Amino acid sequence: GAAVEVDISGLKVGEKITVEWRGKPVWILKRSPEQVAELPKLDGQLADPLSKRHPDEFTPKYAQNEHRSIKPDVLVVVGICTHLGCSPTDRFQAGPQPSLPNDWEGGFLCPCHGSTFDLAGRVFKNKPAPDNLPVPPHMYLSDTKLLIG
Ligand code: FES
Repeated sequence: GAAVEVDISGLKVGEKITVEWRGKPVWILKRSPEQVAELPKLDGQLADPLSKRHPDEFTPKYAQNEHRSIKPDVLVVVGICTHLGCSPTDRFQAGPQPSLPNDWEGGFLCPCHGSTFDLAGRVFKNKPAPDNLPVPPHMYLSDTKLLIG
């Protein structure tokens, strides 16, 4: 399959870009150090906080860590809900929001049946989506060049 090269040198904190890989949207999000630090605090509210389900299919070894990524700040996930395949929308604003956890630090909300995902693409408990957003196979060719696929 065609791998996709992405230059992320211009990606700013809080910014998300979408690239197409094998017909799927792949999101690349640069998280702030504060957002990364908040991730472990959500573990108790998540269905699969350590991405142990289908480990190699949904989360490659190099992303089986607290931030679910190679670089702590840069999230790379397939932006397709693991329930029935809708595309979740960005909810990056922190703080209380309707139907979201109180200590919500932002993440993604699926408009179809209300599944919510944190800023590591990890799904919250008791939501229709069974799994975290998949991390596609990827690697860094340089500090700012990413190869997806
Ligand atoms: Fe996302 Fe159903 S498709 S919650």
